[in-house]
Amino acid sequence: MKTVYITRRETFNAAHKLYNENWSEEKNEEVFGKCANANWHGHNFSIWVTVKGIPHPDTGFVINLKDLSKIVKEYVVEPLDHRNLNLDVPFLKGILPSTENIAIEVWNIIEGPIKEKGGELAKIKLVETENNFVEYYGGNEPF
Ligand code: NI
Repeated sequence: MKTVYITRRETFNAAHKLYNENWSEEKNEEVFGKCANANWHGHNFSIWVTVKGIPHPDTGFVINLKDLSKIVKEYVVEPLDHRNLNLDVPFLKGILPSTENIAIEVWNIIEGPIKEKGGELAKIKLVETENNFVEYYGGNEPF
């Protein structure tokens, strides 16, 4: 099958801290270091959303990138951009907003809307810094 993977990138800026409420200050400091800073820190994130499929015979598209961009902006960029990820985002409530956990929750929130447009979500890549990023495949291990 001629499966093609297509990716749309969007960006957002957000603040967070990594802090486990069940731990002491000392343990948080030991595990998370500066990331546990009480007064938050920020990142310029980029989110790379990959959809897989066979190009449609009428359009040659796996998914219309206009639709994919609109979904990512509505469900991810709009709720996360210029927010505090620990406090402001309904779909991250009660979740420690590590890059890993954000990627999982983003998957959960956009899988449905992408399916409605005929696409199959294949991967979420969330880039936190130029040296750090995570990739999530919805629990479907690709390797
Ligand atoms: Ni951070």
